[in-house]
This record gives sequence, C-alpha cells and structure tokens, in this order.
Amino acid sequence: MPEPSRLWGEDLTLAYDQSVVSRDLQITIPDNSFTVIVGPNACGKSTLLRALSRMLKPSTGAVHLDGRLIGSYPSKEVARRLGLLPQSSIAPDGITVADLVARGRYPHQKFLKQWSRADEKVINEAMEATGVLDLAGRMVDELSGGQRQRVWLAMVLAQQTPLLLLDEPTTYLDIAHQMDVLDLCAELHHDRAYTLVAVLHDLNHACRYATHLIAMKDGRVAAEGDPADIVTEELVEEVFGMPVRVIPDPETGTPLVVPVDRGGRIARRAGAGGAQWGAAEGEEARSA
Ligand SMILES: Nc1ncnc2c1ncn2[C@@H]1O[C@H](COP(=O)(O)OP(=O)(O)OP(=O)(O)O)[C@@H](O)[C@H]1O
Ligand SMILES: [Mg+2]
Repeated sequence: MPEPSRLWGEDLTLAYDQSVVSRDLQITIPDNSFTVIVGPNACGKSTLLRALSRMLKPSTGAVHLDGRLIGSYPSKEVARRLGLLPQSSIAPDGITVADLVARGRYPHQKFLKQWSRADEKVINEAMEATGVLDLAGRMVDELSGGQRQRVWLAMVLAQQTPLLLLDEPTTYLDIAHQMDVLDLCAELHHDRAYTLVAVLHDLNHACRYATHLIAMKDGRVAAEGDPADIVTEELVEEVFGMPVRVIPDPETGTPLVVPVDRGGRIARRAGAGGAQWGAAEGEEARSA
C-alpha cells in the first residue's frame, strides 16, 4: 500500500497516564498542505501535535514520518525533518534572542564543525522574517508576550525543516502581527512547498489560510477538508456548541463565522445593526 503522506498516524490512542484524550484516531497531513486544526479548548489539539512530533508516545497505534515509524529515527534526525512550535515554552534563564534563535540550528550541527557562516545567515533571516532582528541582543525574559512568541517562531524557522507543526503561533500577537505570521506561513507553503500544520483558535483565519482544515471535538476528527466545503453553521454549532452565522468573507470569499448575538442586546444598543442579516426581521415578523 502506498504511504498516504510524509506524516500520518494510524489507530492512535493518545493518553496521559490513564487519562485517554483520543482513541482510534486516524490522521493524515496532506503533503504540501497548509493544514489548520481547530476545536474547543481541551479537545486534544496540542496532544495530537505532540504525538505527530514524537513528544508523546501513543499508547496504541503509530505515527509514520517519511515512510518509517517516527520512533525509529534518532531524535536529531526527527528535528532535521520536522519542527514543532509548542503552545508554551520557557526560555533558559538569561539567554538573548539571537542565542535562543541559534538553538534552532542544533539539529544541523556536526561534531567538531560547530558553527558556520551559513548558520549565521539562516538565523538572521529567521529573525528578519518574524520581525525580531532589532531585538537580537535583548534578553528573552524581558520581552513582551508577542515579541517572545515571534522569537520562538524564529527559532523553529531557523531549524529549516520543510515540515512545520505550529501550536497557536498567533497567540499574544496583535492583529497586524497575526496577519504577518499567517502570511509568512502561507508564503512558506506556497513559495517553498513547506507542509504546515497550525492550531488556530480564530476560525476566520483558519478558513482564509487552510488548504486543509481539521475540526476536532472530544479527541476525534469531527470533519476535515477544504474550509469552503466543511465550515457550515451546523458544523460550528456541533463542534463549539454555539450558534453562528456563516457568510462569505467580503475580502476573500472564504467562510466568515459570525457569532449570533444571543439576546440581541448588542444589535439593539448599536441601533438594530442586525437587521440586514434577518435577525431583526424575524423579530418584526413575530411582533406584527
Ligand atoms: N501533561 C498533561 N498531563 C495530563 N493531562 C494533560 C496534559 N496535557 C494535557 N492534558 C489533558 O489532555 C486534554 C487535552 O489537552 P490538550 O492540551 O491537547 O488540549 P487542546 O485542544 O490543545 O486545548 P487548548 O485549546 O486549551 O490548547 C485536556 O483535558 C488536558 O487537561
Ligand atoms: Mg493546546
């Protein structure tokens, strides 16, 4: 049977001690996709990324990377093939931005031949791409949350792996920096044929950027595919337990998920702004 992709998992049971998060999970990351994983808090997104990056050993089942069991590679070899940005990381005490980003080169360094011009260039490019070059000499623990997040991303980029797993890469970032990071990911995917897997909480960002969307609930895949095909009001309600409207994004035409104004208070305060979508019409019909 041909391998479904570079990175896939079969029959995965993922658990912490006796506490099972996912059971019988089948997951295939399509090659050269920008895959986005969405789902409620605690549904198992980070746990899945940990399993796909060998940080967590499945209780049953197996993860395959480039045609082999991921557990069969030396760890440095996994790090040359695949990079992970964890949801939260703690920097070593007293380390500068440039030194932390430089740690991304570790999997590429050979015994005795520690450091090269090429490494230096990659580190600078990674810092430039995430907008932290001017922070290079600063201490990581003195940065703002958003600055620090971009430094960690630079470190993963410096690893130069064409397969990247990013757990909430846009948390702590203001809207402009969120778009910068997502555009950078889209560029890596589009121009350099990277395969990206990102966990995002913003469904509208997910719909805009994902070439393949995976919606998770309670440790399982509730739906997956092209966002335009799967993101419906029913799916969002099923996965998040919240009523929404789905309309075309006026900028991109991708699905735009708009929470329903439960109770109608906001529309009333704003001067019946909901009328154009029919909420107020319904009310008129009832009162007529
Ligand atoms: N190290 C751990 N030890 C024990 N239980 C854990 C551990 N990490 C996560 N869990 C539990 O596993 C479940 C799934 O957690 P996970 O971090 O995968 O969720 P998530 O979907 O990434 O959520 P979020 O959106 O909040 O990041 C949760 O119930 C969580 O409490
Ligand atoms: Mg998480």
